Amino acid sequence: MDHILEVQNLRVSYHEGDRTIRAVDGVSFALAPGRTLALVGESGCGKTSLALAILDLVPSPGRVEAGAVYFEGNDVRAMNREAVRRLRGAAISMVFQDPASGLNPVLSVGSQLEEIIRAHTSVSKPEARRMTLAALRRQRLPDPERIADAYPFHLSGGMCQRVMIAIATVLRPKVIIADEPTSALDVTQQAVILRDLDGLREHLGIAILLITHDLGVVAGMADEVAIMYSGRIVEQASALDIFERPRHPYSAGLMAARPRVDRPNERLQPIRGSAPELVGEAPECAFLPRCAKAISSCRSEPWPPLAEVARSHYAACFNPMFQPDDEPARRA
Ligand SMILES: Nc1ncnc2c1ncn2[C@@H]1O[C@H](COP(=O)(O)OP(=O)(O)OP(=O)(O)O)[C@@H](O)[C@H]1O
Ligand code: SF4
Ligand SMILES: [Mg+2]
Repeated sequence: MDHILEVQNLRVSYHEGDRTIRAVDGVSFALAPGRTLALVGESGCGKTSLALAILDLVPSPGRVEAGAVYFEGNDVRAMNREAVRRLRGAAISMVFQDPASGLNPVLSVGSQLEEIIRAHTSVSKPEARRMTLAALRRQRLPDPERIADAYPFHLSGGMCQRVMIAIATVLRPKVIIADEPTSALDVTQQAVILRDLDGLREHLGIAILLITHDLGVVAGMADEVAIMYSGRIVEQASALDIFERPRHPYSAGLMAARPRVDRPNERLQPIRGSAPELVGEAPECAFLPRCAKAISSCRSEPWPPLAEVARSHYAACFNPMFQPDDEPARRA
């Protein structure tokens, strides 16, 4: 399977005085066209920093320390600013939790869409207007002409989020990075937005990196799931395997504490202990203080890398959970 987006060993740190926060600590994954990878983890584990790093948007005092991002095989971090700007919003677009951070409050919705279209294409003004109305109509926003002339404060949260998706998809991107796209919305609006995103994936073959706390959303949309803890991916597998056969003790704790998949829209439950501070080097597995499965290697060895523990199922753990019905890992 060819990948459209590939992230290799990405590291992001924030530097505050002599403190360094390792927000993303060597993350790798790949995304294929038309597939959805969900990135799941507790607050502060580095999900947003990772998403921002993909498009070189990490704000100061943060910076991308190392790693590579490939879009269609091209090294994004080696591109000049103009090339990255052309990529952003066109081939790869982002949807954030809070439309206020993505929409300009003093520009009408239509002007914002037209601005994006004209920044990335050479279409005429009337053509940009036509594309704008079509994009709003695709989001099933009622009376697109009226919405185009409205300002964000005229619209409800759900409508603003649909406008954000119209903006994110008007140029038919190949990848959408959606960072908690529905967590500010009520359940009904959430369902509409997620259905729309999933429809775009299916009809346009868009690849989606979906960042969420909500295991109901993961169960409903994701093909593949990456569980992030303290700046690293600690487990990655198909959604079914993660839910039914978690291997990392952290993921197993999340799944055991979760409300049932058949009761959607319920959130990650806290598990015993608290997430570590991401300061300084990580000499050992960051989950050690909270782990009931720790063995002596966990205390004496550095944090283990992701390894295949069953077929296409990866975990970063010295003592992964045993699952009797796992297919064996392939031999290296
Ligand atoms: N601008 C910043 N300055 C300093 N530290 C930051 C900044 N942004 C994020 N961090 C730190 O980086 C770490 C990862 O933050 P990030 O926002 O990426 O996590 P997250 O997984 O997206 O959390 P949430 O689920 O709450 O959105 C946290 O420890 C956070 O405090
Ligand atoms: S490496 Fe050891 S401490 Fe870390 S999650 Fe696995 S068993 Fe627990
Ligand atoms: Mg975040």
